[in-house]
Amino acid sequence: VSGKPQALLIVGAGKVGQTLGRMFASGTCLNPVAIVNRSVDSARDAAPFIGGEARPYGALSAVGEVKPFPVVMIATGDRFIAPAAQSLAALGMVDSSSVVFHCSGALGSEELAPCARLGAAVASIHPLTTFARPEPLAECMAGVFCVAEGDALALLSLEAAFLEIGARIVSIEAHAKALYHAGAVFASNYLLAILEAALRAEHLAGIDPLIAREMLAPLVRRSIENGLARGAAESLTGPLARGDDDVVSVQHSALLSRDPALARCYADMTAWTSAVLGRDDPLARSS
Ligand SMILES: NC(=O)c1ccc[n+]([C@@H]2O[C@H](COP(=O)([O-])OP(=O)(O)OC[C@H]3O[C@@H](n4cnc5c(N)ncnc54)[C@H](OP(=O)(O)O)[C@@H]3O)[C@@H](O)[C@H]2O)c1
Repeated sequence: VSGKPQALLIVGAGKVGQTLGRMFASGTCLNPVAIVNRSVDSARDAAPFIGGEARPYGALSAVGEVKPFPVVMIATGDRFIAPAAQSLAALGMVDSSSVVFHCSGALGSEELAPCARLGAAVASIHPLTTFARPEPLAECMAGVFCVAEGDALALLSLEAAFLEIGARIVSIEAHAKALYHAGAVFASNYLLAILEAALRAEHLAGIDPLIAREMLAPLVRRSIENGLARGAAESLTGPLARGDDDVVSVQHSALLSRDPALARCYADMTAWTSAVLGRDDPLARSS
């Protein structure tokens, strides 16, 4: 994207759509001109936040702007991406001069096939961060990695708009998106679930929840820093790494007597951690 800003249609102005829309509106590459949500009221709420000239609509068929659109961003929930692409194509809102992208981490640009069949250049660009609410700070995309795949033309055209708002682009093959997103799920969701397991074990041990959180915090932070700096195999300490297999068995039995689900999680993590250390799983041997 260069020279005059290109008109941007935003389909789905929720947490991601509003944040990116506002940032694009403040840049020089893209000019949000229309916003489509499921409800026109929600689109009306989003429009002032995004700013610029964006006009709100409650359905794609209601959009009054001149079509086809040069650039379309789909930031609906994942399950609505393919239907939105279908509607964009059926309503003649895109053609062979259009660039269409979505922001899902799990899905690839093949979701946009109806637009691609009309000759539009398609891509998926996933900002690897959490948007808990529309983020008013312009710096919220600074240094955020955006994992991108799709048609070279679409990526080339969108790169400038993303770089301008401070994002960093990482390329991926479309077929690898499920694996990539699984990694992100481990790093975010399952990390939190493991933390919850730790707090639950301390609760079973009779430690006050607030103290437990404070007490574990330095351990959690240091472990993550070490793991990020040197990898888990180099950083692991504790009974499994030392070969104190009896301690592992005693801990597992103690959990089993109080909370079978937590004991199962401990056993699964023991198996995986043993694999990371390249050693045998002591609980598998004893069972
Ligand atoms: N949230 C994150 O941290 C995050 C991070 C990276 C990527 N993503 C991806 O970004 C995308 C959007 O996520 P989000 O968290 O921003 O979702 P969200 O806050 O739930 O917003 C979704 C928006 O899409 C609109 N919408 C739903 N179906 C529609 C349709 N058929 N036509 C037009 N608009 C429609 C909704 O309209 P109404 O307001 O009228 O219901 C809502 O405003 C997803 O693909 C997600 O995987 C999310």
